[in-house]
Amino acid sequence: MKLMAGNSNLPLARAIADYLQLPLTKADVRRFADEEVFVEIHENVRGEDVFVVQSTSYPANDNLMELLICIDALRRASARRITAVTPYFGYARQDRKPGPRTPISAKLVANLVTQAGADRVLAVDLHAGQIQGFFDIPTDNLYAAPVMAADVLEHSGGDNLMVVSPDVGGVVRARALAKRLNNAPLAIVDKRRDRPGVSEVMNVIGDVSGRHCILIDDIIDSGGTLCNAAQALIDHGAASVAAYLTHGVLSGKAVERVAGSVLKELVITDTIQPTEATLACAKIRVLPIAPLVGEAIRRIADESSVSSLFD
Ligand code: R5P
Repeated sequence: MKLMAGNSNLPLARAIADYLQLPLTKADVRRFADEEVFVEIHENVRGEDVFVVQSTSYPANDNLMELLICIDALRRASARRITAVTPYFGYARQDRKPGPRTPISAKLVANLVTQAGADRVLAVDLHAGQIQGFFDIPTDNLYAAPVMAADVLEHSGGDNLMVVSPDVGGVVRARALAKRLNNAPLAIVDKRRDRPGVSEVMNVIGDVSGRHCILIDDIIDSGGTLCNAAQALIDHGAASVAAYLTHGVLSGKAVERVAGSVLKELVITDTIQPTEATLACAKIRVLPIAPLVGEAIRRIADESSVSSLFD
């Protein structure tokens, strides 16, 4: 078995390598003068079970292209099996046609990864579970919920908790976390705009007064969804609001927005390499995802159960 890395999140790839006690495969993943990607693998991979770690995070197109070209290089070098390990699988939010004449980019990316030569995919908290079905190759979707639940219990003591989904679409994810928190009660923030041009109203479904709320979502991008939901919970009488998000996309002024928000704390994982601004923000804490991804890789290589990681 071999573990290879693109450039999108080298610290995570190294942490996974440490977990597996396996060196990263010697390879150059670099650029020509015109920014075209060039990959050269410096050791024999013929007949090997190879895992390529590459989150397709910002810059999404460059990182996606690196992944595709790494897979192509491995296929042409006769690797026996190639697994695309995308701790953060980008383009996932474009998983349906929101209007006429729009793409389904998540499906296109799934086709590209498959066509490049991947035999399997391993991702963490895909934006929607059904994206697994966009691939006609085995696709494992890992959940960060067990890692998050352990952290919530360690840091909150577990008393008077309420798990909250910041939108209706995230209820399944929130319910899964609530189950792991001794069946904590659930609330939902429902964003409504009655007609165009009227500002959004944040309705809170569930009685959050006096509760320590745990907001859970898969992605924080601009931070708007999360910070507005946190404010709505405080306005409805919540005692405190902390948030657990798997993928810290954190674009633009998101870190500043979090710093200035009513959130007590934002906890993300390192599926995407945190920027210096993220690491410097006193309100943001990063949970390592390498043990979960590393263990799943070990089990795939051993042909043992991945789903039992979540029993
Ligand atoms: C949406 O469906 C996702 O789960 C996130 O809620 C969304 O991507 C967050 O985006 P932002 O931080 O820009 O509000």
